[in-house]
Amino acid sequence: MVEEEQKKQVTGYLLFSLATAVIGSLQFGYNTGVINAPEQKLRAFFNNTWMERYAEPIKPGTCTIVWSLSVAIFSVGGMVGSFSVGVMADRFGRKLSMFLVNILAVIGGLLMGFSTICSSYEMVIAGRLVIGLFCGLFTGLTPMYVGELSPTPLRGAFGTLHQLGVVIGILVAQIFGLESLLGSDKLWPLLLALTVIPAVLQCILLPFCPESPRFLLINQNKEEQARKALVRLRGTEDVSKDMQEMKEESSKMAMEKKVTILELFRTAAYRQPLLIAVMLHLSQQLSGINAVFYYSTGIFESAGVTQPIYATIGAGAVNTVFTVVSLFLVERVGRRTLHLVGLAGMAVSALLMTIALLLVGKGYSSLSYLSIGAVFLFVAMFEMGPGPIPWFIVAELFSQGPRPAAIAVAGCCNWTANFLVGVSFPKLEELCGPYVFIIFMILLIFFFIFTFIKVPETKGKTFDEIAREFGGAPPPHTTSVEAPPTSSSVTLPASPIKEKV
Ligand code: GLC
Repeated sequence: MVEEEQKKQVTGYLLFSLATAVIGSLQFGYNTGVINAPEQKLRAFFNNTWMERYAEPIKPGTCTIVWSLSVAIFSVGGMVGSFSVGVMADRFGRKLSMFLVNILAVIGGLLMGFSTICSSYEMVIAGRLVIGLFCGLFTGLTPMYVGELSPTPLRGAFGTLHQLGVVIGILVAQIFGLESLLGSDKLWPLLLALTVIPAVLQCILLPFCPESPRFLLINQNKEEQARKALVRLRGTEDVSKDMQEMKEESSKMAMEKKVTILELFRTAAYRQPLLIAVMLHLSQQLSGINAVFYYSTGIFESAGVTQPIYATIGAGAVNTVFTVVSLFLVERVGRRTLHLVGLAGMAVSALLMTIALLLVGKGYSSLSYLSIGAVFLFVAMFEMGPGPIPWFIVAELFSQGPRPAAIAVAGCCNWTANFLVGVSFPKLEELCGPYVFIIFMILLIFFFIFTFIKVPETKGKTFDEIAREFGGAPPPHTTSVEAPPTSSSVTLPASPIKEKV
């Protein structure tokens, strides 16, 4: 009975709209993974350009600076982009924002693609910055749009689609980056510019997608248009349940249709969910996952693996498979449990990795397989929970009014932590040697404890029910000061709205 109802809610049109939005996630993954393989080609290009300009080879130190800048500036763009998402999504709506943001992909892709022809490494750096901005915006826009379109019982499964797009993007970048494909001396600019194609494709498809019905109704008061969009998305004329749910949310939001980032911080009722959202995003990045995705080839080398590039692609494949596993589990097992299992599993893998690195260092070279196994387990456990869940749970923890601002803050924390791990890992590795993953193990244990104590389950609950667990939307005249009610101290029945427990 329930399954039948779910089937009715999943139409081809809904899947088409979600798939179109997920092209943005694919782009984020692709641009995260793409810079890894062609490192030496880029360094050679920097050197050639330097020779042309100054008739002497580039100093190794300068070359490393230009290289690190090209890598890291992507996350700086990401921080700025993710932080701007709230303003943009509220001003232009979800759909038009996605459309406009693609202009950045075209500019960034062309800058990088033409860098060799123009003999300008500055164009690579500028291109990476613009692409970072673009990806930062999409890490907010896609989860927001997907969360707002999905039927409640499937919001987690569909929410995981964002991460599925990311991991497929990384895998495609790893494969295309092989020397025999686009990672060659001549073709690497094309490898970097390829991001233009999905951008154009998404712009062609977006006009056929609906604007988010929640945005139409709650932000713009366009009830008829919202209803029409829902009828197409759900494949049935009877969308009264969805409409009712949105209207309830809307009436409570009447005075706070848009919440600025400042208001988000100042309102007591948002503090608890905001803390949870930020901590979940920090747990994702400070787990050390990108130490693996940015530097896996080096990690495998020091563990004595002979063909590290294939082990790296193997990690990308494991990454993809386990995101699919999570997609099927998330509505059964729940977000909280999967996140806990993932963090615990990663902590164990970090320990295994340390043991493997130590033993290989002592001459037990056959143990290089243990290190591959530990990295694969680390990645698999990441995708069970810490990979996909933070990206969509923020959209669940907040109702329409504060959602864009909350997504912006959480996303910006994510990108900042991503940047910090990216720039500091090589130094940490130098300082701690084989013990470097112990740092992540300690952080993982800390985030496990936090999740266990603080994070509620959001599976199957409406946005409104979740908001009420945290004390609900504040009445319009509420300022800040009083302490937010915690989930254990909530008194629900005072609400005039019918309970759905
Ligand atoms: C998540 C992270 C991203 C990471 C990826 C790996 O999407 O946000 O930084 O590279 O997972 O699968």
